[in-house]
Amino acid sequence: MAKRELIICRDLDDLSRRAAEEFIRLAQQSARLAKRFTVALSGGSTPRSLYRLLAEPAYSERVAWRDVHFFWGDERCVPPDHPDSNYGMANAALLSKVPIPAGNVHRMAGEKEPQLAAREYENELIAFFGLGRSDWPRLDLILLGVGEDGHTASLFPENAAVENRENLVVAAYAQKLDAQRLTLTLPAINHAANVSFLIAGASKALIVSEMLKADPASSSIPAGRVAPVAGRLNCFVTQDAAARLLSLFARPNQ
Ligand code: 6PG
Repeated sequence: MAKRELIICRDLDDLSRRAAEEFIRLAQQSARLAKRFTVALSGGSTPRSLYRLLAEPAYSERVAWRDVHFFWGDERCVPPDHPDSNYGMANAALLSKVPIPAGNVHRMAGEKEPQLAAREYENELIAFFGLGRSDWPRLDLILLGVGEDGHTASLFPENAAVENRENLVVAAYAQKLDAQRLTLTLPAINHAANVSFLIAGASKALIVSEMLKADPASSSIPAGRVAPVAGRLNCFVTQDAAARLLSLFARPNQ
């Protein structure tokens, strides 16, 4: 079972600051130990303020950007300059503002035919991490959000992608959004060294309480299936999003 910690934050600003400190701590630790830091970014609106914060000198000057490799947990099947692009959002908020070598930005090709883009990204992960046939990548950090329906990355409830144990990356059709997506699969997520959920807003209170009670082996809630097999799970949750939580954790960080 993953080591799991709930970090209750005053508000989105506090959440972003705490998540930024964790990012920097892991980046410095990974760069020291392995001369690189591999992180998969999340899309959506919550992480934007974290990305903007990391671009501020008080934070960005504490990261050896030449050692950082950016990946994505998921991507919308749109071009990188499309307003819905997760890469586009991260590039505007962070990547374009820090000295990250171009070769260290491993975006999912949302502009390509989804199945081809999924295979290409899977091959990129296999090559980068030097994976054998039955290996899974061990990213240093994966950032995730959760939707009110319990989706995470682009793993949506009742979607076959949630049960995929073969691939690292799949193309998934998000029925309720009528949109094609690219996403890491649960095994690819659950083999990370660190996974951090970033969850803000009263609208997430119900799903937060449900996902944290879920059985990672069988839950119908994709976010409830996230349980790093040999890593840490940190849940950065604003107070309003944590409002319905029972005392699932002994000592929530205040
Ligand atoms: C995406 C994300 C998605 C997101 C959740 C929560 O591409 O949209 O990967 O899984 O994390 O929908 O989004 P918010 O942070 O905007 O609530």
